[in-house]
Amino acid sequence: MTFQGLILGVVSIVLCRAEVDTAPQRKVVELGGNVTLSCVLTGSYEILQVTLQKKTIGEKHENLATYSTRKGVTLHPSYKDRLNFTRLSLNDTDITLWRVKIQDEGCYLCLFNTFPHGAIPRDTCLTVYEQLRGSLHYIVSEGNLTATCFAYAWPLPVISWIVPNVEGERTDEVTPHLNGTVSVTSKLYVNSSTSLFGQELICRVRHMEKDTDYRVRVKDGWRFPIPGLLAIVALVFILLVLIMSAMYWRRRRKKQGGSRTS
Ligand SMILES: *[C@@H]1O[C@H](CO)[C@@H](O)[C@H](O)[C@H]1NC(C)=O
Ligand SMILES: *[C@@H]1O[C@H](CO)[C@@H](O)[C@H](O)[C@H]1NC(C)=O
Ligand SMILES: *[C@@H]1O[C@H](CO)[C@@H](O)[C@H](O)[C@H]1NC(C)=O
Ligand SMILES: *[C@@H]1O[C@H](CO)[C@@H](O)[C@H](O)[C@H]1NC(C)=O
Ligand SMILES: *[C@@H]1O[C@H](CO)[C@@H](O)[C@H](O)[C@H]1NC(C)=O
Ligand SMILES: *[C@@H]1O[C@H](CO)[C@@H](O)[C@H](O)[C@H]1NC(C)=O
Repeated sequence: MTFQGLILGVVSIVLCRAEVDTAPQRKVVELGGNVTLSCVLTGSYEILQVTLQKKTIGEKHENLATYSTRKGVTLHPSYKDRLNFTRLSLNDTDITLWRVKIQDEGCYLCLFNTFPHGAIPRDTCLTVYEQLRGSLHYIVSEGNLTATCFAYAWPLPVISWIVPNVEGERTDEVTPHLNGTVSVTSKLYVNSSTSLFGQELICRVRHMEKDTDYRVRVKDGWRFPIPGLLAIVALVFILLVLIMSAMYWRRRRKKQGGSRTS
């Protein structure tokens, strides 16, 4: 009974280990950064060669890098200047990718050519992201308000509006960039801006499972807006005029007083 229990325990430990071994590792890297993928095969195998392939759907997987003790390192020409082994050990290699592009996103396969078991695969996946840059502003023209929320990032940022209950029209535009990132511009159009005076508009951007809020309060359009500096200049000017006229009147009175005494 206890012996069986022990066997079961050992088997489950081995199974757990096997599961841990085959679970693909996932690395996350910022666009333009460097990342190191590891190809590790635990257990006593005789490894002849290790190959890193990019998994592509519907196509033959491309060999990006190969290492064998006999032939050394071989790199795919189009990756030569930004990919290489940084740890050379057949059962425990590190492969570094520099200046990561959006196109590098996806899963990779480490293939261990072993004797006598043949090829043993291990998955490793890469997620590339670009930090969020966003903004929110609005303009009011002839009583129509147009709020514009801009979000640049990768993966695709998702915009939602949190605005007071008014009827508005929303248009979204996604602009892809050459380097694979995207910009999303969401415009909110409201034809009765007065209903929004004093209210807050929030543009919520969801990116990498995180929400970022951009807020703006709609200013009361009836109050004449005087920029601060202009107001100060005007105040100083008025003060100067007051002082000068006071001095003028005092001098005048003195003169009059003086002529009276003489
Ligand atoms: C990436 O690696 C290069 C070369 O080693 C280095 O100059 C650069 O600073 C690294 N970039 C980052 C974001 O770590
Ligand atoms: C790789 O092989 C070496 C020598 O055979 C061994 O000492 C080491 O533990 C192995 N590494 C792994 C991760 O299995
Ligand atoms: C890649 O790394 C190997 C071993 O570390 C080195 O000999 C080789 O010159 C490197 N290749 C390139 C293209 O940097
Ligand atoms: C503002 O809205 C009104 C009616 O909704 C429209 O007639 C007018 O052309 C709009 N003005 C601007 C500048 O869009
Ligand atoms: C990608 O392209 C966009 C738009 O051209 C640019 O703003 C951004 O800085 C670029 N990102 C990188 C990492 O080159
Ligand atoms: C403003 O838009 C609503 C629908 O969104 C419309 O019913 C209303 O007539 C419009 N008002 C003006 C002044 O155009």
